[in-house]
Amino acid sequence: MKMKCGVLVVVQVMLFFTSCGFTGSKKIEINQYNQSFKPGEVWLDNDSVHINAHGGGILFHDGVYYWFGEHKTSGQDGFVSLFGISCYSSKDLYNWTNEGIALSNEEDPESEITRGCVMERPKVIFNKATKQFVMWFHLELKGRGYEAARTAVAVSDKITGPYTFVKSYRPNANTWPENFDEENKVGITQWNKDWWTDEWRNEVDNGLFVRRDFKGGQMSRDMTLFVDDDEKAYLVYSSEENLTIHIAELNKNYTGFTGKWVRAFPGDHNEAPAIFKYAGKYYMITSGCTGWAPNKARMSVANAVLGPWKMIGNPCVGADADITFHSQSTFVLPVNNMDGTFIFMGDRWKPENQRDSRYIWLPIVFNNDKPEIRWMDEWDLSFFSLEINNLN
Ligand code: DGJ
Repeated sequence: MKMKCGVLVVVQVMLFFTSCGFTGSKKIEINQYNQSFKPGEVWLDNDSVHINAHGGGILFHDGVYYWFGEHKTSGQDGFVSLFGISCYSSKDLYNWTNEGIALSNEEDPESEITRGCVMERPKVIFNKATKQFVMWFHLELKGRGYEAARTAVAVSDKITGPYTFVKSYRPNANTWPENFDEENKVGITQWNKDWWTDEWRNEVDNGLFVRRDFKGGQMSRDMTLFVDDDEKAYLVYSSEENLTIHIAELNKNYTGFTGKWVRAFPGDHNEAPAIFKYAGKYYMITSGCTGWAPNKARMSVANAVLGPWKMIGNPCVGADADITFHSQSTFVLPVNNMDGTFIFMGDRWKPENQRDSRYIWLPIVFNNDKPEIRWMDEWDLSFFSLEINNLN
């Protein structure tokens, strides 16, 4: 009941401020005024332009939401990064101000983030000790397709940027995962026979690709960040040819690794990880691997962020639940950091015109401890107080 009242007050205060055209102390000119979420529709920012922050994540800081995402361009090649990582800000989650490019592509052809590389799934976290904002993203080097499979880090003293690129690499070179049997630390490092056979699958489970990439670092593609209540942060990424999720602890300033990491779901082909914590449990939503085409989402649960993780099935319910309502997970947003109010954020990719990719934001509801996501054509934040009321 306490939670319900809190949500209502917050929503009312937000609506009061936004209806006056104020966000905090700053008055802004708003050309577009949204009062609800309309999943899958064009989402106009305060300049009446479709929001350009795909594969993104949100950081709530000092009462403002900051949405970081991939800046896509029109056409089939729009997945290539020509500008960089976008940032938008909002006080109410419906109306977003374009804060510009937070991390820019560089003109220098030698730079790892030169125009024409691929920068995906950026997430930003705040380090309370260093007071720095730290951005991690998936980087593919220009002209090399998706083979580089690197993670990349950038930092800024100001949340909206500009961020300074630090480096990109394959993480956790020369360290074994914590949940790796001693006998697997030696063995096959190259597979010269057919893939997808039972024999191959067995070797993958036993760490074939971990051994192959031991010296050079582990592949890192789709990713997310998670900061736990104890301020420890983790990079969660799709590794081993997208076959296995890795969860790696970040160091104290969040710009590197401690060397403590685990594997989850070896060989099960998970992408697009998004993590959240509720009532002492950790939940992870992932997708399967079908390129830009949608597939069935997967939900897993653990008692600790480093696992062990257990699959509990598809969180989506209803029509089109088997293709995540034509979307792929990117982030789960705890609204106002209030317990139990989570928004699933997904991307409805448009590979024929990436700039037109859409956003699928839907509330997560706990049904007997199992998080569920149901389609809604339109909804607003009052949904959470209703749901909490119903479940209590
Ligand atoms: C699926 C991933 O989730 C996306 O981020 C992107 O990397 C595409 N694959 C590329 O095909």
